[in-house]
Amino acid sequence: MGGTIIKELNETVAFIRSIHTGAPRIGIVLGSGLGNLSKEIRVEKEIPYEDIPHFPVSTVEGHHGKLIFGSLSGKEVVVLSGRFHYYEGYTPAQVVFPIRVMKFLGVETLLLSNAAGGMNKAFRVGDLMIIRDHISLFVVNPLLGKNDTALGPRFPDMSEPYSRTLIGKAKAIAAKLQIPVHEGVYAGVTGPTFETRAEYKLLHIAGGDAVGMSTVQEVIAARHVGLSVFAMSVITDLGIREEHNIITHEEVLQAAGEAEPKLTSIFRELIVTL
Ligand code: HPA
Repeated sequence: MGGTIIKELNETVAFIRSIHTGAPRIGIVLGSGLGNLSKEIRVEKEIPYEDIPHFPVSTVEGHHGKLIFGSLSGKEVVVLSGRFHYYEGYTPAQVVFPIRVMKFLGVETLLLSNAAGGMNKAFRVGDLMIIRDHISLFVVNPLLGKNDTALGPRFPDMSEPYSRTLIGKAKAIAAKLQIPVHEGVYAGVTGPTFETRAEYKLLHIAGGDAVGMSTVQEVIAARHVGLSVFAMSVITDLGIREEHNIITHEEVLQAAGEAEPKLTSIFRELIVTL
């Protein structure tokens, strides 16, 4: 397995380079209902996932399924428009494969967005949360199995998964743009069920401010290969609330779409500083 992953990554990168020779240092992963940032990119090349060797293919509604190369805020970026979730049936290694591809393409900083359920009582639908830390114990760690030190260490440090420097910059940008942002802990779960009332309560007591079905495996893989990470959640529903506790994917997509312009402005300005 060890040598195989490196071989696959090299094959994937060789294919991508045969189509596009850019060398972006910034990678972006967009969450459910949050794909519009990719419309602001001055696109140089789009590669559908199905064309890329070893890439899984995205299936979830609201996801586009292509790798986009171009410029945003005057910087070269590569965007994973549509991500891979564990609940779709992919292995954790497949979920994080594109993150490793980004590293092998020369990416140094990874920005991620996601839709998440709010558990902090101060949160409202449509709010933004900068992820300060995460809880990954409820998902399968993508680094389980033989470690290839060509990727990263056997026991990666996770004391600062989300770059404090980038968090500081994002908070300053949000203040300047007068966009209110929370900062908090993202609890990762597998889904695809939304949480029961008891589960939202448990995750909240455990220290989670928001909960979602993506991001943590990607961040683990990103830190493993040494990328700097910044991530932000759009609160699309409230897990902790008295009644009307029925959550649908449509509700999540709609709330994400409505809050997206705020998130996009912060990403756009943050990229200027990278
Ligand atoms: N729970 C888990 N994942 C989510 C939620 C939620 O409430 N909202 C958006 N993604």
